[in-house]
Amino acid sequence: MPMRSWRGIIEEYRPHLPLESDWQVVTLLEGNTPLLRCDRLADGIGMDIELYMKFEGLNPTGSFKDRGMSMAVTQAVNEGATALICASTGNTAAAAAAYAARAGMRAFVVIPHGHVATGKLSQAVMHGARIISIDGNFDQALELVRQAAERYPVKLVNSVNPFRIQGQKTAAFEVCDQLEQAPDFHFLPVGNAGNITAYWKGYVEYEQGGTVNGRPRMMGYEAEGAAPIVRGHVVEDPQTIATAIRIGNPASWQQAEAARDQSDGEIGMVSDAEIVAAYRLLASTEGIFCEPASAAGVAGLIKGKTDGAVPPGSVVVCTLTGHGLKDPTTALAQVGEAVRVPAALENLAEALEVA
Ligand code: F0G
Repeated sequence: MPMRSWRGIIEEYRPHLPLESDWQVVTLLEGNTPLLRCDRLADGIGMDIELYMKFEGLNPTGSFKDRGMSMAVTQAVNEGATALICASTGNTAAAAAAYAARAGMRAFVVIPHGHVATGKLSQAVMHGARIISIDGNFDQALELVRQAAERYPVKLVNSVNPFRIQGQKTAAFEVCDQLEQAPDFHFLPVGNAGNITAYWKGYVEYEQGGTVNGRPRMMGYEAEGAAPIVRGHVVEDPQTIATAIRIGNPASWQQAEAARDQSDGEIGMVSDAEIVAAYRLLASTEGIFCEPASAAGVAGLIKGKTDGAVPPGSVVVCTLTGHGLKDPTTALAQVGEAVRVPAALENLAEALEVA
């Protein structure tokens, strides 16, 4: 039987999305990302749970942002916009640039100077975005683009644009479709807090529509040096190795707290060391290479294992938000120099340590 092709999140979930029927859809066939069962990882961290990774790094531009961008750019182009703008720690910029190119629009991306991973920058460059690097952080960049979008003919495509959240909620639909039930727990990183908002929206809608019978507890994790929600105040100078979530004043702060409270979940924080440990463990025990920020949810799961919040037998999903190739610099900083030998079998044999 021929395999039916995936049509992108809009065509696959159209009845659940606020879309005019005559809109031309802008898509790179995002979505349909793997939900990987991870028994080796569960064993490795000593947890008797049914553990899955939703690997969003396998979207077209390598992060979950493609879902929301398909919706936001579709809406923008069909209402006649010709230019997009966003603030970004990198992934939103890459996705906005790619979808703008796909739609024949211009993209302006405003980024914190010196704190965007190489892979993400290279994407924005190649897709022809105009990159504006500011001497400031993401929060300042977001404030600037919000003002710019009010004043100039540029459409704002950060997650304060409700179409972004609409698109991103499809990841929760996919998790339920893939599991044929809602998970008991959903772990994910929290930065600007759009994604936890979107997942919760998706889970609630699927339950209310009768597709599944339950909803997960939402477990979101900020980086310790950028943990405004956990600390209860804006962090003026956020710092973390996980540059994607280096955010001190999240736009969807209240929605994230609502997701936590309504789901009986948690928003916690993890240190850079805990993030890096989870990042390395995923790559080395499961063959899944995500970017550092993406590992924050798994780091939260590992950190919390002793407090017993996740009972044995639970179905646990962690979202890995972006691909490891986005940030080769951080990956390479984890290891020493490669072994270098003359091109001879005897030298190779020595290096093999098995000969
Ligand atoms: N993981 C990655 C890889 C991200 O790029 C982001 C956010 C998050 C997690 C957090 O998601 O903001 O919805 O809570 N990146 C944004 C950007 C800020 O500009 O690419 P969130």
